[in-house]
Amino acid sequence: MLLARDIKQTKRYTIDFKRNGTLGLVPTMGYLHEGHVSLIKKSVEECKHTAVSIFVNPTQFAPTEDLAAYPKDEEGDLRKCRDAGVDLVFMPTVEEMYPEGSTVYVSEDVISRQLCGRDRPGHFRGVLTVVAKLLNIIQPDAAYFGAKDFQQAVLIKRMVRDLDFPLKIKVLPTYREPDGLAMSSRNKYLTAEERKQAVVLNQSLKLAERVYKDGKRDVGKIQKAVNSHISKASLGEIVYVGILDAYDLSPIENISRPAVVALAVRFGKARLIDNTVLGDFSWED
Ligand code: PAJ
Repeated sequence: MLLARDIKQTKRYTIDFKRNGTLGLVPTMGYLHEGHVSLIKKSVEECKHTAVSIFVNPTQFAPTEDLAAYPKDEEGDLRKCRDAGVDLVFMPTVEEMYPEGSTVYVSEDVISRQLCGRDRPGHFRGVLTVVAKLLNIIQPDAAYFGAKDFQQAVLIKRMVRDLDFPLKIKVLPTYREPDGLAMSSRNKYLTAEERKQAVVLNQSLKLAERVYKDGKRDVGKIQKAVNSHISKASLGEIVYVGILDAYDLSPIENISRPAVVALAVRFGKARLIDNTVLGDFSWED
């Protein structure tokens, strides 16, 4: 497995890979867990070569957020990548990715205003900018993302479509702990008691699925059921419970097309997100 910290070297490696087959990219911020590994394995299975980027991207964190505290485990990450069959890890420094004088960003003004965009203004501008840079540096044939970050996946697909990036975006299902909690690098921030209560995210999504299966289509009513389950069963502070059109995240009042139920709940230092889709939805174009 190759490790590169600078862009020039990375380009040399990836151009070489692409000469003799397809290249998959899995962008990450490190502290890899089985959710990340599931994306990596899919790329290894589908592409001749796989690159993983590990970069805690400062432009997607607000000054008040957990950039400095974001967990790191370089050695563990490299071992997991090697074990999964990765060919190249790209692990740049902040100076390498954002040299002094960088002033151009990629932003989206509609979808990024919903859900996480409300309490994390500027977050998706940072995400889209860094993903655009990674795609340009590595030039993969396919890039792999998790449905756990639903809004992020919708936005990346939209950027690739609207700006004609020449690759396929693959979105894979959320990988969960046995009790249903979505795997996340941020689960590390949870105390033992918060960890127990954090199952309410998944539980309340299951509740939404049941209510939908029973025939309820009124967004307000489903939202109310989800909200009240979270507040009754945990001390988590609800940041938002959103039910929106699953394809473009536009607001809806009744569910007549696939709809995403997306939640953000804060437990102490950890802001956790999760989602489910009601109705027949596909990430394929
Ligand atoms: P990070 O949180 O490290 O996640 C990297 C990728 O793993 C994302 O596509 C995310 O959706 C996916 N992922 C996280 N938890 C998952 C789970 N439980 N099951 C399946 N996939 C999961 O998301 C980011 O980093 C950054 O915003 C990034 C796209 C790298 C840009 O900086």
